Amino acid sequence: MAKSKSVYVCQNCGADSAKWMGRCNSCGQWNTFVEQRIPQGPVRSSTLEKGTYAVPESLDEVQSDQVTRIDLKNGEFNRVLGGGIVPGSLILIGGEPGIGKSTLALQVALNIDKNILYVSGEESPQQLKMRADRLGGGNGKCQVLAETSLQAIITQVQQSKPQLLIVDSIQTLFSEAIESAPGTISQVRECAAQLLKVAKETHMPVILIGHITKDGSIAGPKVLEHIVDTVLQFEGDSHHLYRILRSSKNRFGSTSEIGVFEMTGEGLREILNPSELLINQQPADLSGSAIAANVEGIRPILIEVQALISTAVYGTPQRTSTGFDTRRLSMLLAVLEKRANFKLASKDVFINIAGGLRVDDPAIDLAVISAILSSTVDIPVDPFTCFAGEVGLSGEIRPVNRIEQRLGEADKLGMKRILMPAFNRKRIDPARFHLDIIEVKRVQEVPKNLFG
Ligand code: TYD
Ligand code: MG
Repeated sequence: MAKSKSVYVCQNCGADSAKWMGRCNSCGQWNTFVEQRIPQGPVRSSTLEKGTYAVPESLDEVQSDQVTRIDLKNGEFNRVLGGGIVPGSLILIGGEPGIGKSTLALQVALNIDKNILYVSGEESPQQLKMRADRLGGGNGKCQVLAETSLQAIITQVQQSKPQLLIVDSIQTLFSEAIESAPGTISQVRECAAQLLKVAKETHMPVILIGHITKDGSIAGPKVLEHIVDTVLQFEGDSHHLYRILRSSKNRFGSTSEIGVFEMTGEGLREILNPSELLINQQPADLSGSAIAANVEGIRPILIEVQALISTAVYGTPQRTSTGFDTRRLSMLLAVLEKRANFKLASKDVFINIAGGLRVDDPAIDLAVISAILSSTVDIPVDPFTCFAGEVGLSGEIRPVNRIEQRLGEADKLGMKRILMPAFNRKRIDPARFHLDIIEVKRVQEVPKNLFG
């Protein structure tokens, strides 16, 4: 009898090796190899039987069927998906523990008027009931199942034929066909592939919840991201109230939409106008705060940036930022030092983006610089002035995208002045906005525009 063989698979990137290794050669992670047995079954014949393979068709002849998307009764979630769930699609929601993934999924399950099967491998039906009561209860069409066996779940789906399946979480499932433990890369891949098959055959959409690792990628498998149709990230700071749902992959919509929620005692509340909450409403005479006219995805949002500059107590000054890339902060400080002659080398610098958001839009640079300058000289920035502009290494203020939307949002929220890149100025019609538009070309010009 042939000896059953085994292979070692990296749990981070999926690379395999015949021998165990301490460090993965392909992704560089330590201690990620797990042994996996290869079942020694008969090799499948590669000859195709007639009628079992697809034949090519001309695209003109392919019937386009108008899909009716399932409305999730949640405007923000619908928007991120591109207008609701497409039947038969597989959606993956990733996020840190405690961010609210289960809450979001259960809330959707309770609100829509469809037969839903909510499978939880993490919570008992009693715990789900407690959570559902907290969320205001549902319409009685949501069935819950505490199960982790993939085969049992698929059998249940075939019997009860739900119109939507929610699996919380993919890392807790296990398939009997694979020998490794739940959560390992091969289990996750197998379970997702089987659920995909069921989804495509029955046109039932599936929402998978996935855990993420320390560095923010979905735990275990990149492969999982290839299998599913849509990958959503649920982010925010669990100590703050705001949550952002972004899509990083979407076969049925754009990836530039974001959804904004607030975590309340009764679950997640949709926020239609995030800017109103994120900027300080009271004009305060405090230094170190500046408002950025940002665009997250394709949505304009005004965000407050706070900076605190103080003399360093220890030899090496600290540079700390929440919600903003620390390396980018170091770069901005170097630009200020070199190009605008602001000596910050012996200062501690702290940056905070209000509301616990993480910002990717480079246009926030100008607001960060202004907040730093304001804290350094201890003069407040006018509360009705906002900023949009990327800062380059030679101190130039680089153009930003979607300038009209930024101006529109600033105007709507009662801002009176905006500092923006001179390059963008040519492309807009200033008469459309009730804003004093100030063009800047270099960082050197920023202080005089801030403090006169
Ligand atoms: P949860 O959905 O369990 O997070 P995840 O599934 O992503 O791990 O959410 C957990 C947090 O949300 C928990 O700390 C409590 C909080 N929460 C509320 O503030 N309000 C609510 O109505 C609910 C259900 C949870
Ligand atoms: Mg959960």
